[in-house]
This record gives sequence, structure tokens and C-alpha cells, in this order.
Amino acid sequence: MIRIILYWVIFWITIPAPWVWGWTLASHPGIQVEDGLEFLPLCPQVRSTPNAPEEFLQLTNPLSPSPENIFAGQTIFHFDAKPGPCRVCHGISGNGLGILFRELTPSPRNFTCNQTMDSLPDGQLYWIIKNGSPGTAMPAFKNLENDQIWQLIHYIRHYSKDTH
Ligand code: HEC
Repeated sequence: MIRIILYWVIFWITIPAPWVWGWTLASHPGIQVEDGLEFLPLCPQVRSTPNAPEEFLQLTNPLSPSPENIFAGQTIFHFDAKPGPCRVCHGISGNGLGILFRELTPSPRNFTCNQTMDSLPDGQLYWIIKNGSPGTAMPAFKNLENDQIWQLIHYIRHYSKDTH
């Protein structure tokens, strides 16, 4: 009898173990693609970006961070911006690892990095989005309306907020 109980115990400990306790390599539920990347987002990131003129550095975002404004910024970031959507360089998750990032020196800004983003006033972001960063891949987005730029700024700031 004791043997049967022993077999029973050993069976139920060993057989379900791989999928109950996640021992198999094939099943890693909850692991995100980013966790497997070898490229780590830069944080803090060294910037040699030119400073906006003083009057721009004083500006703060005139739009409210309403869901509508953030959504409008999100749409421009991922799809509509010309000459190219921000995501191809700054990445879908805003960490600077967009599909083009390996081609680019200096690297696109990592918007998820608080140390870098908290030091940048809204007006600085506005100036660079409008005028680009000369000598880098960051283009000037001349055809965006002012409001669209402020919507983008609400959107890109959301990337660094969660981690405060
Ligand atoms: C072709 C690649 C590319 C695209 C597209 C692009 N960026 Fe950038 N961006 C960069 C690079 C590279 C930098 C870093 C520039 C530097 O170090 O001076 C940068 C920097 C920035 C910065 C940082 C400014 C600062 O003062 O540090 C902001 C904000 C920014 N981009 C916003 C955007 C937004 C918004 C869009 C879309 C409307 C966009 N970028 C599209 C490549 C790109």
C-alpha cells in the first residue's frame, strides 16, 4: 500500500511539473519581446542636441492631457507624421529602439527614460520636433500644426510617466 501511495505522490509531483511550474523552455507566458532583446535602451542618454531659444524653453504645453489629445498624438506618432512616423526611429514602445535605430548615430531619444525626459522642458521638445536636430536623423516636421506638436508632446511624455 505504501508503495502505491509513493508512486502516486511521485507521479503527481514530476509529471505536471514542467507546465505547472513553468520549467519548459517553450512556455514562458508573460515574457515580453523586449525582455529578450539584447539591445538595452539608453538611460540616461547623452544629448548633444541644440537648445531651443530661451523664449521657447519657457513654454509649457497649452493643451490639456485629455484622452483625445493623447490619442491624436499617438496617431501622429505611429502613422501620420511626414516625412516619416516617429515610431520608425523612436520605437513602438518609445524607448529609442525603432526599426531604424541601428543605422543612427546619435541614437533616437529614449522617451521612457525619466532622467533624460524630466530634464527637457516642453518648449525644447516643441522646438526640436518643429525644426529637427541638424546633423542627426531627427527631421524637421514643418507641416505639423502647432496643436499637433503639443499633442505629440503629451503622447511622448506618457512613456516616462508610469515609471515615476
Ligand atoms: C528618421 C529618424 C527619426 C524620426 C522619424 C523621428 N525622430 Fe526624433 N529623434 C531622432 C534622433 C536620431 C534624435 C536624437 C537627436 C539628437 O541627439 O540631437 C531624435 C530626438 C528627438 C527628440 C529629443 C529632443 C531633445 O532636445 O532631446 C524629440 C522630442 C523627438 N526626437 C521627437 C520626435 C517626434 C515627435 C517624431 C515624430 C513626429 C520624431 N522624433 C521622429 C530620430 C528621429
